[in-house]
Amino acid sequence: MIFTVAIDGPAAAGKGTVGRAVAAHFGFAHLDTGLLYRAVGALVLKGADPIAAARGLVPEALEQPGLRSPEVAQAASEVAAIGDVRAALLDFQRGFARREGGAVLDGRDIGTVICPEAEVKLFVTASAEARAGRRLAELVEAGHAASFDGVLADVKARDARDSERAMAPLRPADDAHLLDTSELDAAQAVAAAIARVSAALGQ
Ligand code: DC
Repeated sequence: MIFTVAIDGPAAAGKGTVGRAVAAHFGFAHLDTGLLYRAVGALVLKGADPIAAARGLVPEALEQPGLRSPEVAQAASEVAAIGDVRAALLDFQRGFARREGGAVLDGRDIGTVICPEAEVKLFVTASAEARAGRRLAELVEAGHAASFDGVLADVKARDARDSERAMAPLRPADDAHLLDTSELDAAQAVAAAIARVSAALGQ
């Protein structure tokens, strides 16, 4: 069975949590496409050329530690604005989306550019304040020093860059279902997403 669930939305809206849970529930493969840009960003911080880094990216690079740091997130957002970087990562994502057995991909342009034919498209969003609060909790948990105001400014800066760039800007596909998680806990957001996918599968 070929069946793609495309999940897009801004940073820290809950895409990863929803994507992992949907994949586990239906037995689909899951790809956090932000990790591709983070892996390229991490290589650029070490001095690599972004386009060469994207063309040479190997799947094992997604497993390396440190990809969740704020510095790498910033570098990822910068390399993600480069058209040749996005182009280099396209085939891998398309192949993953249409693999046998079902796939969930989360990112910014899955429903619009990578897999416009996805059987289910979800646009997961939440207020900037709700997202900053969640990201702060994650950072503190991981031992990073951070303040709410600093994280909020970072979330807004990344939102602006991700939605205003010329190449594959962040926006909902016309046929995406909006899922606003501002007032939902993780279990409620996951349940809403699973209900959408179940309906599309005819279950
Ligand atoms: O989802 P994330 O925070 O791990 O993404 C890191 C950066 O990568 C983010 O600023 C935008 C970019 N990105 C993108 O442009 N397209 C995607 N499909 C996924 C991420």
